[in-house]
Amino acid sequence: MGHLDGKIAFITGAARGQGRAHALLLAEEGADIIATDIAAPVDTVRYPASTPEDLAETVKSVEALDRRIYSFVADVRDYNSLQAGLADGVAELGGLDIVVANAGICNDIAPSWEIGESDWQATLDVNLTGVWHTAKAAAKHLMDRGPGGSLILISSTSGFRGIPNLAPYNAAKHGVLGLAKTLANELAPYRIRVNSIHPATVHTIMIDNESTARVFRPDLDNPTLDDSLDALRKVNLWDTPYVQVEDIANAALFLASDNSRYITGAALPVDLGMKEKYSGL
Ligand SMILES: NC(=O)c1ccc[n+]([C@@H]2O[C@H](COP(=O)([O-])OP(=O)(O)OC[C@H]3O[C@@H](n4cnc5c(N)ncnc54)[C@H](O)[C@@H]3O)[C@@H](O)[C@H]2O)c1
Repeated sequence: MGHLDGKIAFITGAARGQGRAHALLLAEEGADIIATDIAAPVDTVRYPASTPEDLAETVKSVEALDRRIYSFVADVRDYNSLQAGLADGVAELGGLDIVVANAGICNDIAPSWEIGESDWQATLDVNLTGVWHTAKAAAKHLMDRGPGGSLILISSTSGFRGIPNLAPYNAAKHGVLGLAKTLANELAPYRIRVNSIHPATVHTIMIDNESTARVFRPDLDNPTLDDSLDALRKVNLWDTPYVQVEDIANAALFLASDNSRYITGAALPVDLGMKEKYSGL
């Protein structure tokens, strides 16, 4: 018996990183999966993009757990293809109970007044509009299924704080929090829960690259994640630099399952206490 037996979950950004971890854990707990990813570069992003092979690996791993999975390639910025792919997945698997709006990017860092128009726009388009598109495409399917649905929006500790040199990312992730609160109100009459998760640094390619390492080590020319470890530890109450993808998937599982049946409109930090220590940032 799994916590999600008979449920169907839609996950964006599912080719790798946290998205793949969500797909695997929810499938382990009995859910069938609808998985999507752009599986290609986003123009402004300077770290390596996910690939169709990454998405195929997620599919293979879910199937190895004996669960069904419907996957499609879509850019969350393109509402029509996202909506069409999800509708096909829902038709194929038979409904929709859980959504994890996880796809996201992080552009190069810079003070707010130096950020380029395209970097600003791409971050807002993917990290905020893409999450809205996901909720918009999914809401009707969740309502069709009746009470008990769970919509989970992936924000960040950046959704609470103003980390220097990350203005578009902070702004988009604050926006995700506002969207989650709004949707929680709007979907309450349908008994559909809406919550956001706010991870601290998570060990994925998004942080394990030179461009992001510069957030924490602006003093170095070519910093690596290893160079950032002390700086990362300092922002947390615990002496741990980052969390793992499974830590975020465990939070998503809780919010997806009936164990959180009376929790809606909540913003759940998985942040090693970062929020408390740096609340003034
Ligand atoms: N890694 C961190 O430290 C961290 C911390 C807090 C929040 N987050 C958030 O967690 C989420 C997952 O990030 P991750 O750490 O797994 O990074 P990741 O880069 O490994 O995964 C992100 C996935 O989203 C996909 N994606 C990007 N743009 C897309 C688009 N336009 N349409 C569809 N798919 C797209 C990518 O192809 C990739 O597979 C993001 O929303 C991110 O902002 C990450």
